[in-house]
Amino acid sequence: MNKEDNETLCRVGKGTPMGELLRRYWIPAALSEDLPEPDCDPIRVRLLAQDFVAFRDSAGRVGILDELCPHRRASLVLGRTGHGGIECLYHGWRFSVQGKILQMANCDDEKLAERYRANAYPVHEVGGIIWVYLGPAQHQPAFPLHPWMEAAPEHRYTRIIASHSNFVQVMEGLLDSSHLGILHQDALPAGDGSQRYDHPGKTESFRYLTSLRAPKIEVHETSFGMYYAALRKVVHDGQPMVDTRLTAFVAPFTVYVAFDHGRVALTLIPVDDEHTYFYNITWEDERPINTEPYRSQIDLAGGTLPDVARRWGFARETHGQARTASRQNNWLQDRAAMRRGETYTGLPPFTAEDAAMTSSMGPISDRQELLVPADLAIVRMRRMMIEAARSVAAGGTPPGYETGQHPGDIVPWARKLSPGVDWRSMLPGMESVSA
Ligand code: FES
Ligand SMILES: [Fe+2]
Repeated sequence: MNKEDNETLCRVGKGTPMGELLRRYWIPAALSEDLPEPDCDPIRVRLLAQDFVAFRDSAGRVGILDELCPHRRASLVLGRTGHGGIECLYHGWRFSVQGKILQMANCDDEKLAERYRANAYPVHEVGGIIWVYLGPAQHQPAFPLHPWMEAAPEHRYTRIIASHSNFVQVMEGLLDSSHLGILHQDALPAGDGSQRYDHPGKTESFRYLTSLRAPKIEVHETSFGMYYAALRKVVHDGQPMVDTRLTAFVAPFTVYVAFDHGRVALTLIPVDDEHTYFYNITWEDERPINTEPYRSQIDLAGGTLPDVARRWGFARETHGQARTASRQNNWLQDRAAMRRGETYTGLPPFTAEDAAMTSSMGPISDRQELLVPADLAIVRMRRMMIEAARSVAAGGTPPGYETGQHPGDIVPWARKLSPGVDWRSMLPGMESVSA
């Protein structure tokens, strides 16, 4: 990829083509539990290379304002919550969640209090996540109701994984079926079905990932992004079948993948050009997976148990701290365990493995690559995102759902199909933009 395209693809600051594209969508800013109660401590939120303060007011409403006070630029993250807003320590200006000035302790001129405002952004709190819209008011889109938002809180488990990489790099890992059976082979069932890790919802077809490592990738573009299928020729009950794993990419930053029981939505939120928060949302209709033992099972399978997340530095609390995984310590790889034949990667399964691969490329990969057919979905996503960013910069509309279409219609699956059955014919009623 040439340097100019790579810059367009990756830079997310205000005024950049990709940054402006992303600002046309509702964006997860934090978990609801990060602001656990009315008038709790405010938090700093960094999104798309901009800093904000998020707080919950006395009535429980969430406000997101520019971090720096509009008076003389002190940080509102140091401010006091209460009396219906957040109050700057420096001169006691107090702001509502809408940015209205409720008090100006060092000024008696009520007209100024009427005229001045803090920059406040529209907020929506749904599905245990605080969402914000950072784009131009006239382009604010309808709030998209994703299928997991309808699940009761006990049936939904959300984790945030912090990554020292540009968001596109992390997203590419989710559109890369061929790495699953190679990088993650320690955690997946072997060809004979035996496995070291249990996972609620892990399908039998996972074992094909480790034995058939060069899947055929096919892409079907839609108005919201694309579906892609990883096809592996298998023999099932003596019959030739095509193991088909369907993934949906919902522009600009969400990927849906399928399991037998639960489903997973993966949303990659750029903190800035070089850091990403990866919202991993698992939901399941039958079981209350947001309780034990399910949470620990999911964390074990995904490699996100709290002690691993803290030690490897993909927990938000420890991210970037000394002694967590980094280039300097080769991502805490255990060469001795590799030599003993206990592990292929020398890393905890899945998340630490992915984090090591994506951050070892450098925070923004130069994408001077030698690609193969297995990389097709990655190439198409990049092209789609660059085109969308340039189109929006030229006054076009961002990719989105068609009228009447709903994220709940997007149901990825993993199935074995008879040879000759076209997986595209089984998509849930989607109108394609191009075949
Ligand atoms: S800097 Fe915030 S009130 Fe003066
Ligand atoms: Fe991975």
